[in-house]
Amino acid sequence: MRTLCFSNNKGGVGKTTSALNVGLALARRGHRVLFCDCDPQRSLTISFEGADIPEHVGMLLMRKGEFSLDDIHAVIRPVGENVDLLPASAEMEANEAQLPGWDAEHSTRLADILEMVAPEYDYCVIDTKGSIGTLTWIALAATDLLYIPVDPEFYGFEGLTNLINTCTRLRRRINPTLQVGGIFFTKYSPAYRARLRHDVVDLIKDHYGKEVPVFQTTIRQSTAIPNAQMAGTGLFDYAPDSTGAEDYEALTDEILLHLHAN
Ligand SMILES: Nc1ncnc2c1ncn2[C@@H]1O[C@H](COP(=O)(O)OP(=O)(O)OP(=O)(O)O)[C@@H](O)[C@H]1O
Ligand SMILES: [Mg+2]
Repeated sequence: MRTLCFSNNKGGVGKTTSALNVGLALARRGHRVLFCDCDPQRSLTISFEGADIPEHVGMLLMRKGEFSLDDIHAVIRPVGENVDLLPASAEMEANEAQLPGWDAEHSTRLADILEMVAPEYDYCVIDTKGSIGTLTWIALAATDLLYIPVDPEFYGFEGLTNLINTCTRLRRRINPTLQVGGIFFTKYSPAYRARLRHDVVDLIKDHYGKEVPVFQTTIRQSTAIPNAQMAGTGLFDYAPDSTGAEDYEALTDEILLHLHAN
């Protein structure tokens, strides 16, 4: 199982949308996918089920002592063909402060959980909150490849540099397999397509391109994306011919290409 995490310490850039649609695109290709929601806002969890879910990944993270495979299975829910979910809960926000996470022993708790279920899946796709707190640290400690969605309109060097430096620290101290899988652009409109290419993309490539891949695929602004979310339906079912569906298929192709090349 390869663990892919979508993170950026900026809010509203398309982390959840990207985690969801790349995960669903992988499942459509026949891969067994486990989603793991590490955001107490639980947007990914809500994408599958509106009702409150009593069991959640935070319970496993908070639990002291050993846990069994049955304990993990009790929290995982099937949510589609080839798709399971480790849900989040709003409680995880309050619990985050109590989570022991910044040391090597405790920060591998999610990694330990995922390792136990690894034989059952091809990919785990993690969604994170829009800041680098304990939950994101624990998520990255369990990650093989980090993908960073960037909204070019709200782009900031400082945030991106912090996230990439966090990965470097984690790689040295806790998770040697962690790599930045790539940066990709989300929510761009044709109106600033040219500017995007000339300004922001070049800027990011110049600044990070040597250490981090910058994907060719960009995710266009697509009304089908929020509409599918409001309808409570996956994008590929709701609007299979939308630019959103097309772009997430292309991003998944590019992710797989990079994965197989490495
Ligand atoms: N390509 C797109 N075109 C149009 N709307 C989009 C696109 N991508 C995401 N959105 C919309 O932008 C909003 C934020 O997206 P999303 O929830 O994926 O961001 P996020 O980074 O996970 O946010 P948060 O930091 O709150 O977790 C959502 O309403 C979503 O429907
Ligand atoms: Mg989100």
